[in-house]
Amino acid sequence: MLVLAIESSCDETAAAVVEDGRLVRSNVIASQVEEHKIYGGVVPEIASRRHAESISAVVNAALHDADATLSGIDCVAVTYAPGLIGALLVGVNYAKSLAYAAGLPLVPVHHLRSHVAANYLCSPAPRPPFLALVVSGGHTHLVRVSDYTTFTVLGKTRDDAAGEALDKAARAMGLPYPGGLNLDRESKGGDPTAFRFPKPRVDGAPLDFSFSGMKTAVLNLLHNAGQRGETLNLKDLGASFQYAVASILCEHTERAAKAGGDQTIVLAGGVSANSVLRAQMRALCKKNGWHLYAPDLPLCGDNAAMVGAQGYHEFLAGHVSGPGLNAYATMPIDAVTF
Ligand code: KG4
Ligand code: ZN
Repeated sequence: MLVLAIESSCDETAAAVVEDGRLVRSNVIASQVEEHKIYGGVVPEIASRRHAESISAVVNAALHDADATLSGIDCVAVTYAPGLIGALLVGVNYAKSLAYAAGLPLVPVHHLRSHVAANYLCSPAPRPPFLALVVSGGHTHLVRVSDYTTFTVLGKTRDDAAGEALDKAARAMGLPYPGGLNLDRESKGGDPTAFRFPKPRVDGAPLDFSFSGMKTAVLNLLHNAGQRGETLNLKDLGASFQYAVASILCEHTERAAKAGGDQTIVLAGGVSANSVLRAQMRALCKKNGWHLYAPDLPLCGDNAAMVGAQGYHEFLAGHVSGPGLNAYATMPIDAVTF
């Protein structure tokens, strides 16, 4: 079965053709990173405009690269939530029109579910049930994935997402957007024990996260050093901050896995590309004898192949929408409606 998938939730216009939820026949991404760089972050209005300009060419390229035509496609899957609303609407409206014109089923896909599904495109691929840590620019979730379309949120952030904290720390350290990626690159070889950060706890919710205090701690360190005319070793600061964020993510994952008796841990989302998090999670899983899965690096960030992978399973579960499909800026991963 061939799924044509479309993703436009943030700053990548992407389309892919995926076979049976597993085999990537094509995966085209038009990135807007260079355009948003001068602003230090994504400008939603610019993102929507660029999506509208490039979506047609991106979808055509995905079909061409897959050596496919619309007549060979079985359904159209599209990211419809959560994300930047203007950006999502471009993909959703394009997918609706295409599905309607070609007489194909339209499958709405939740963005975070698709990040988890990026793992199904890798070898070896995990099979539910498993425990997933979903870490992106806007979300930090610990989720039990009971089957391909049944999710239960066990813990989530009360304020900043892990990616947001890394991005803001990177920006304060003078690194260009995308912050998390550059922080990872520039902190290699730094001393992760040079700086200490508070370990936030959420009272009564041991699996919930809070990263805003840690982010403020980095900003204060930089500000206070600036006031005293001192310069901090940014490599050490970056290494220490990433180590602290990764430690919290791993501790909560360990707590959830031990409570739930999980043997399989799955990483997902843009931050799952982080080298420090991957190394710490590998060590944690090795210590406990758990199986760890993480997407191949090119599939960690936003792409449409992962939408095709999740779209396949949503379609099999009968999650098909009509031309009335809307886009939503927010939507829980465990209670999707469309
Ligand atoms: O999943 P994603 O591509 O987009 C959202 O759905 O938000 O995640 C983007 C986030 C950004 O915060 C970005 O800085 C972070 O993923 N990121 C990284 C790395 N690569 C991307 N964070 C840390 N280390 C990386 N190597
Ligand atoms: Zn994402």
